[in-house]
Amino acid sequence: MSFKVKDHYFNLAKKKNYLARSAFKLEEINNKYKIIGKNDHVLDLGYFPGSWVQYVSGLKGFKGKITGVDIQAVNESLGRNENINLFEKSIEDIHELADVEVAKKFNIILSDMAPKTTGIKSVDQLRSLALVELVFSKIDLFLAKGGNLVVKIFESQDAQNFFKTEQKRFEKMVFFRPKSTRKVSKEYFAIFKGFKA
Ligand SMILES: C[S@@+](CC[C@H](N)C(=O)[O-])C[C@H]1O[C@@H](n2cnc3c(N)ncnc32)[C@H](O)[C@@H]1O
Repeated sequence: MSFKVKDHYFNLAKKKNYLARSAFKLEEINNKYKIIGKNDHVLDLGYFPGSWVQYVSGLKGFKGKITGVDIQAVNESLGRNENINLFEKSIEDIHELADVEVAKKFNIILSDMAPKTTGIKSVDQLRSLALVELVFSKIDLFLAKGGNLVVKIFESQDAQNFFKTEQKRFEKMVFFRPKSTRKVSKEYFAIFKGFKA
């Protein structure tokens, strides 16, 4: 069954010229929860190779901007679009808006960041949560009031406890596992709307 899912989304990604099948996860999230507006400025953490950037910039009527950050070398083929600005940086290296060359906070923060996995469940869960904690340590500086946040996480009780505390900073929080996620994967997304700032 997992192979069927893989084939379907893999083929669909090829057909739509997406750089990764991950685009369909964001598409499902956005279709269901309407997180991205036409004029939004989006910060995409762990953007590489860039299928989320492709999805957002290809949204009908999208006139906003996308800033992508990843530890991997900049994907030059995407960076040529004037609404897209990409950086080869770790999230740990962005401390202020100037580090990603913007003057105003973002309306949307997306994080599809994934740690290097070891295959040891508890270690991978901790690494995933550490990345999510880093995202939350930045939102006061980077997310505008009323903004939305989407973060990927590997399932764990610690993650649930962390989100339970953090949800107070937003109007609404939901958990979502897109259909396009591989069956074997332990990941899901936490979606936060309406940052109270
Ligand atoms: C699943 S991929 C993202 C796929 C992307 N959303 C797309 O649609 O093409 C996860 C990315 O997280 C990045 N990453 C991991 N740790 C990071 C960090 N500390 N700072 C920035 N990016 C990181 C990895 O380099 C990797 O490219």
